[in-house]
Amino acid sequence: MDSFELNKVIMAVLGTVFIVFSLSLISDSIYHSEDPKVAGYQIEVEENGSETAAAEETGPAYEPIEPMLASADVSAGEGVFRKCGACHSVDKGGANKVGPNLYGIVGAPIANHEGFSYSSALASYGEGKTWTYEELNGFLWNPKKYVDGTAMGFAGLKKAEERANLIAWMREQADNPEPLPGS
Ligand code: HEC
Repeated sequence: MDSFELNKVIMAVLGTVFIVFSLSLISDSIYHSEDPKVAGYQIEVEENGSETAAAEETGPAYEPIEPMLASADVSAGEGVFRKCGACHSVDKGGANKVGPNLYGIVGAPIANHEGFSYSSALASYGEGKTWTYEELNGFLWNPKKYVDGTAMGFAGLKKAEERANLIAWMREQADNPEPLPGS
């Protein structure tokens, strides 16, 4: 190959590069896509929200417990209920205290226990709803986040296992325990 031929090869290569490059410029200008103004998700932070609250909202808020119920430790659940006993009785016909009696609560209509005056927040949240396992799971995870404005002054049970054990035990405090999920 003499130098004249080599020049032709180089010109051809450069020419191709030039064409490819200008095509990409043109296609960019035709198919121009706007970059989002803010990258990623936007996370709403409450006025008094701390960084941990914001962090919590990026992941799933709380784990589902239905798959855990069948193998839950029911007697450990009775122990967890000590956190509730100051405000709730759970024996049949037991008195309402700060909170309503909880006998037969699993599967019962929400905010419907005789003789207890519920907050309007829980009463309106509960219209037409029952305490399914998943409703109890969310409420007991964090009452005030789950039902904004509830009068239940309890921080919540953050551990899914504790909630599963407790709810499995509460389920048995009933005349006709609600069937376990999937049974
Ligand atoms: C500081 C007192 C207090 C503690 C502790 C407490 N609760 Fe409550 N609970 C309440 C009050 C008050 C209500 C009524 C809430 C409303 O009207 O908004 C309530 C409501 C409930 C309800 C809804 C009842 C219904 O009839 O719809 C359930 C279920 C419940 N509590 C379960 C629990 C469990 C389980 C625990 C322990 C892990 C617990 N609570 C701890 C005060 C408390």
